[in-house]
Amino acid sequence: MSWIPERDEALAFLRQYVTQDSLLKHALAVEAVMRHFAGFFPDANPDEWGLVGLLHDLDYEQYPEQHCQMTAEILKGKDLEPRLLRAILSHGYGICTDIKPESDMEKVIYTVDELTGLVTASVLMRPSRSILDMELKSLKKKFKTPSFAAGVNRDVVRQGAEALGWELDRVLQETINGMTKAAASLGLDGSMNGKA
Ligand SMILES: [Fe+2]
Repeated sequence: MSWIPERDEALAFLRQYVTQDSLLKHALAVEAVMRHFAGFFPDANPDEWGLVGLLHDLDYEQYPEQHCQMTAEILKGKDLEPRLLRAILSHGYGICTDIKPESDMEKVIYTVDELTGLVTASVLMRPSRSILDMELKSLKKKFKTPSFAAGVNRDVVRQGAEALGWELDRVLQETINGMTKAAASLGLDGSMNGKA
């Protein structure tokens, strides 16, 4: 039997490799968005989609030069379910792997991974520092401003949306919605306002 951990076990496992708060929050953000997007695909298992999001950058803190390669090695060592491993590795398609996103789960993680970073940066620019009242139009503005959060590759998001057959606006809105569900654990519920 291949490994499909419970969420708690997966989070504890992730914490062995990730100690930086920002990377941990990134993992939680992608997890939340993956779970949310699973709701749009009848055959999707939200627990599995969440795991893929949670674990996708497992190696990034300790092995940035071997990103994706070390994740593959570590998770193969754990005998992670190959379907989940493939989805995790596909998020780095064209960057650190040649595994093309093909399944719905793969196309979604490819599309939303970087986008969650843009959402976080946008929320932290707001006076409220809260995602709870963020509107699509303010995210769209940030998306269209290449100098804002310049490290976020907009082309990946556009290509991912196209592969999914979704309008870009829908991808942006549902990414906000998914992250909103986890706002408190992401520190994006406004409670950090004035504290950081
Ligand atoms: Fe990521």
